[in-house]
Amino acid sequence: MNFIFLGPPGAGKGTLAKEAAKAFNIPHISTGDIFRENIKNGTELGKKAKAIIDAGGLVSDEITIGLVKDRLSQPDTANGYILDGFPRTIPQAEALESFAKIDAAVNFDIADEAVVERLGGRVCCKDCGQMYHVKFNPPKVEGKCDKCGGELYTRDDDKTESIQNRLVVYRKSTAPLIDFYKEKGNLVDIDARPAPEKVLEEFKAKFKK
Ligand code: AP5
Ligand code: MG
Ligand code: ZN
Repeated sequence: MNFIFLGPPGAGKGTLAKEAAKAFNIPHISTGDIFRENIKNGTELGKKAKAIIDAGGLVSDEITIGLVKDRLSQPDTANGYILDGFPRTIPQAEALESFAKIDAAVNFDIADEAVVERLGGRVCCKDCGQMYHVKFNPPKVEGKCDKCGGELYTRDDDKTESIQNRLVVYRKSTAPLIDFYKEKGNLVDIDARPAPEKVLEEFKAKFKK
C-alpha cells in the first residue's frame, strides 16, 4: 500500500513510520530526513534548506516535489511506501496525484499541547536518526542511541519559537490537506495520543497486518 502520513509536527509520524515500514516491509520516506541528511552532508540542497528548516518554515514546493518524484521512481517503492511529511501543501498534493496513487492518507489526531511537549523533549541519534524522548521514551544510557551507540542531539528546529512557527505553518498550509483527502475518500484518522506501541497496534489493525 502507498501511505501518506499527515499531522502536526511532533505528532509521532516518524516514530510510527519507522515501525510500520518494518511491519509492512516497505520503505519509509521522510522529506524532513532527506533534508537533514543533505544539511549534514553540506550539499547545495542542504545549504538552501537549512535556514528555512531551522526557522520552522517550508522548503519550496518546486524543490520538494522534484525530490519526492525522484525518490518514488526508485525500484524499492514498487510494493508500497510510507511518505512521511509530504505532501504538506495543496500544490504538493496536486503534484503527487500526477505521479503516484495514494491508498491511504493517515491523519494523526492530537492536541497542540501534546505535540509541544513531545517536541520539547525529543532527542535524535546523529548516526541512525532514531528518535527518543527524555520522558516518554528515554534511551537506556543518557545521550547514547540504544540501536547504534551514536550520540543523541536536539534538532535545531526543536527550539520554542521554531516549534510555534511550525504549528502556525501546519494550520495554514498543511491542515487543509485533511479535507483534500477526505473528499477523495481515503482519509484514515489515527489516535496519536496513546503510547507508541498502542499507535502501532491501531495502525496494524486498521490496515490488517
Ligand atoms: P519533518 O522532519 O517532517 O518535521 P515535522 O513535520 O515538524 O515533524 P517532526 O519530525 O518534528 O515530528 P514527527 O511527527 O515525526 O514526530 P516524532 O515521531 O519525531 O520536517 C522538518 C522540516 O523540513 C519542516 O519544518 C520543513 O521546513 C521541511 N520539510 C519537510 N517536508 C517538507 C515538505 N513536504 N514541504 C516543505 N518543507 C518540508 O515524535 C516526536 C517526539 O515525540 C519524539 O521525541 C518521540 O520520541 C515522541 N513520541 C512519538 N510518538 C509518541 C507517542 N505515541 N507517545 C509519546 N511520545 C511519543
Ligand atoms: Mg518526523
Ligand atoms: Zn543510532
